[in-house]
Amino acid sequence: TRTPVNVTVTGAAGQIGYALLFRIASGHLLGADVPVNLRLLEIPQGVKAAEGTAMELDDCAFPLLRDITITDDANKAFDGANVALLVGARPRTAGMERGDLLQANGGIFGPQGKAINDHAADDIKVLVVGNPANTNALIAQRNAPDVPADRFTAMTRLDHNRAVAQLAKKLGVTVNEVKRMTIWGNHSATQYPDIFHAEVAGKNAAAEVNDEKWLAEEFIPTVAKRGAAIIDARGASSAASAANAAIDHVHTWVNGTAEGDWTSMGIVSDGSYGVAEGIISSFPVTCKDGKFEIVQGLEINEFSRARIDASVGELIEERDAVQELGLI
Ligand code: NAI
Repeated sequence: TRTPVNVTVTGAAGQIGYALLFRIASGHLLGADVPVNLRLLEIPQGVKAAEGTAMELDDCAFPLLRDITITDDANKAFDGANVALLVGARPRTAGMERGDLLQANGGIFGPQGKAINDHAADDIKVLVVGNPANTNALIAQRNAPDVPADRFTAMTRLDHNRAVAQLAKKLGVTVNEVKRMTIWGNHSATQYPDIFHAEVAGKNAAAEVNDEKWLAEEFIPTVAKRGAAIIDARGASSAASAANAAIDHVHTWVNGTAEGDWTSMGIVSDGSYGVAEGIISSFPVTCKDGKFEIVQGLEINEFSRARIDASVGELIEERDAVQELGLI
């Protein structure tokens, strides 16, 4: 029998946590033959609710779920972690300036990065979901100097999946016919969903759409502002779709992208496509054997260049702000 994989989830008592844990435990994160131990990290006020969720996990009698640990101690939560999903974050509240938001999150992701550095398993893979996800991932990564930088990733898979769904709807095809979608930049309203390299049933998506006005005025804003539209409709932010994207992100990272396709992940930039080296920005990537590579050689037209640059510019500002605050 296989050794269980240790999966740490922070913010386990939150709404994404609730949508996420049952799918991890039922084998959707890593595969239907991989047993898991769950390590749930919460703040002290969240521990009791996490214990309630753990009772429900027990009650599912999941064949793959071996052990559940619940703690408010990051050192314990990340001890031996193979996969870490950093979901818990400090949300922006009314009147909060960006500096306050970054400072508060630095107080979470700095220590968690250090705990990962000191206690996680050698093969640790980290996905940051909690917003501002890219910069929180950067803070964690810089506080974990002994862990290879490419083990820290930020989630843009929800944006990617939203873009795939919107494009499929526009062209009247099923989502499985859409390949090679790309999200560039920040997981924020400046993100750039790029269909110029996407394919629909083997044909170029931008050519199939052939409508730049729709692209600029409908598709991009719909994808970029989808989170706000969900809050408006549901009275709460995206939870099940965010959890689903986190599952997809890690599953693809571990099990690989399909031949001829790619996905989008926020990763440490190596300078490809003129994206400032060292920031965590979303790129098109292929995954194989638990590793990813940026898709190279894509031609970036003027329309795309301006939008990639704008989102990267925002990430540089966030990096400079956390640098000034001494968080990295
Ligand atoms: P939530 O407020 O329901 O849950 C957050 C949980 O994190 C709470 O239980 C809280 O006690 C816990 N928490 C706070 N600080 C913590 C810490 N230092 N250590 C451990 N746990 C901590 O929020 P929800 O809806 O689950 O969202 C979580 C995060 O995911 C938010 O930052 C949200 O903005 C972000 N998000 C990101 C998306 C993406 O595409 N990257 C999509 C949707 C949400």
